[in-house]
Amino acid sequence: TANTMWGGRFSAGPDAIMEAINASISFDQRLVAQDIAGSRAHAAMLAATGIISDSDAEAIRKGLLTVLSEIEGGDFAFSAALEDIHMNVEARLKEVVGEAAGRLHTARSRNDQVAVDFRLWVRDQCDAADSALAALQRALLDQAEAGADWVMPGFTHLQVAQPVTWGHHMLAYVDMLGRDRSRFADARRRMNLSPLGAAALAGTSFPIDRHMTAQALGFDGPMTNSLDAVSDRDFALEFLGAATICAVHLSRLAEELVIWSSAQFRFVKMSDRWSTGSSIMPQKRNPDAAELIRAKIGRIFGANVALTLVMKGLPLAYSKDMQEDKEQVFDAADTLMLALAAMAGMVGDMTANTDALRAAAGTGFSTATDLADWLVSALGLPFREAHHVTGSLVALAEAQGCDLPDLTLAQMRSVHAGIRADVFDVLGVDNSVASRTSFGGTAPVRVREAVGVWRKVLG
Ligand code: ARG
Repeated sequence: TANTMWGGRFSAGPDAIMEAINASISFDQRLVAQDIAGSRAHAAMLAATGIISDSDAEAIRKGLLTVLSEIEGGDFAFSAALEDIHMNVEARLKEVVGEAAGRLHTARSRNDQVAVDFRLWVRDQCDAADSALAALQRALLDQAEAGADWVMPGFTHLQVAQPVTWGHHMLAYVDMLGRDRSRFADARRRMNLSPLGAAALAGTSFPIDRHMTAQALGFDGPMTNSLDAVSDRDFALEFLGAATICAVHLSRLAEELVIWSSAQFRFVKMSDRWSTGSSIMPQKRNPDAAELIRAKIGRIFGANVALTLVMKGLPLAYSKDMQEDKEQVFDAADTLMLALAAMAGMVGDMTANTDALRAAAGTGFSTATDLADWLVSALGLPFREAHHVTGSLVALAEAQGCDLPDLTLAQMRSVHAGIRADVFDVLGVDNSVASRTSFGGTAPVRVREAVGVWRKVLG
């Protein structure tokens, strides 16, 4: 038999496979709270503008709450024949309140209905991402505060470059995640306009009040063009874009934790709660959570690519293609939240091995730049010449199989006669980091300042 919602011009029902490809109820039931909030706002507005009676609006309001509690209580028989959450809710509303239910869809289409529902859902996810990011920032900040002066190697090309402080390294991620938060906040601000009342695409002849529904749903106002309102999913793409960049940051931190927890580095020890063993190798402590976080970017960026490709080339206004927006965004959002929570747990629980950090900080001629800088400031050499002299000293140390501080003064003077004994003061890793006091530098004094600034921000 024909569909009860739109079957007026049909005499036969859909093929079973048609129904299977068309229905979205298996996943868009996640929008139930948003759908009912949107319908409540719409019904109240219809009554306030005299389009439906107050008694019908009241019956609809109560009925919607009943349907919501049925669905949230888990005792609800969703029907694929009714395609999606919007028609499942409305059909049940009709059973609950009778004829008044048929007036709810006045001056509305599923096109603006789904647009408003999905915007509300994605808006919530921006807020959830913000809280989860703040929690991870706090975990990193605790690490930074504890280790403001723990020296460790800083790397470029994964080769030892210059000593840095643990706190400085942790704060690098706090800064990155701060920008992630601002990206979600920015996307949220732009998406916070209501498409409700755009109707199918052209607006409506009913005297609706779009400002009223926008306000009731916490939007800053209505979207200004009804075609645009039902056609675009850029708000979802912005969310996925922000999520992708955030996932890149998480993946890089995860990669560092994988490297750092290896037997070759031993920079960190993950807690038992965040490690896994091997079924054959009894000694193993694997950083599986970090590896999975490193990998999760694939799903998030995949969703970003998938929805971008769905939207590209679609003529205005609504096309059913756009139903493909939801599963991608749902999965990306779920994945991001899980990754953020796992990362916060891991970072909060991990223990830095300060001895291993310190020992590694001095390897790889990590204070060679300090030596070159000393040649400039103490002896007045041009930096390029100082660079060359230092390179020769590194080559000498390498040939001797020792580190720079292990060279004798005589050996140093064989390379440059002007070198004095006080050169050894600048070759230590603590001196090195303490000297890097430029704004944003790795010196413990700067790290403590930055921790203080972030503490104020994060509360
Ligand atoms: N389930 C649909 C979606 O997710 C709702 C909108 C359907 N609108 C329509 N005219 N078929 O996009």
